[in-house]
Amino acid sequence: PRTAVIVVAAGSGTRLGLGMPKALVQLAGQTLLERALGSVFAMSEPAQVVVVAPADNVEQAEALARSVAGVASEYLNVVAGGATRQESVRAGLGVLLDSVDEVLVHDAARALTPASLFDSVVAAVRESGSGVLPVLPIADTIKEVDDARAVVGTLDRSRLAAAQTPQGFPRAELVSAYFAAAEEHTDDASLFAAAGHPVITVDGDQRAFKVTTVWDLRRAESYIDDSAQ
Ligand code: CTP
Ligand code: MG
Repeated sequence: PRTAVIVVAAGSGTRLGLGMPKALVQLAGQTLLERALGSVFAMSEPAQVVVVAPADNVEQAEALARSVAGVASEYLNVVAGGATRQESVRAGLGVLLDSVDEVLVHDAARALTPASLFDSVVAAVRESGSGVLPVLPIADTIKEVDDARAVVGTLDRSRLAAAQTPQGFPRAELVSAYFAAAEEHTDDASLFAAAGHPVITVDGDQRAFKVTTVWDLRRAESYIDDSAQ
């Protein structure tokens, strides 16, 4: 495959608070990991799929991933993650196949992301040669606040965007950006930009929202109910 998708699923799910890793939480009869992988394996071109699992759940994650992959299992790797998201992505980068030119990094917690968003990120990476970030407009007015909790200013919302995943990158630049990374970044586009590489945006998708709290799990359930009708 020309493309790899690293699905990071090694987080503990503290804010969800269900006593298990978030990727293994059930959503209408399937784990978040299975739902996320369903879209990855539905991409229009087959990709290498790298699942980064909690260290204690690698075998369980592998069994779930193989069940979703079916005959596509040939291009599936499951590796153990690290203490931070960034370490988990780094673990995934370690097993890329030689043939891979573009790498997408995706949060398993964005379990309802449609296959079409993966396809559009791949196309944009190939066309631009840049990093590619799916974004949505911001609904709230965003304030800058100082240490004393006073409002410093209101940011111009028309120039702000909410970042989603999958984020896509040319492989060589992403790997070297990870080698160079001196600090923790909350997403890959930030780490990539810190290494001096350009990042462009494409339209995100409402369904690519991140399941963080139990309310997000309910929102996800309601999307599944709607699509079943
Ligand atoms: N992730 C990971 N390895 C980590 C931390 C996070 O692979 N050490 C993954 C999560 O599994 C998730 C994605 O990164 O798919 C986004 O992280 P987040 O939503 O913060 O998930 P958790 O860290 O699991 O949740 P929390 O912060 O509430 O503990
Ligand atoms: Mg986290």
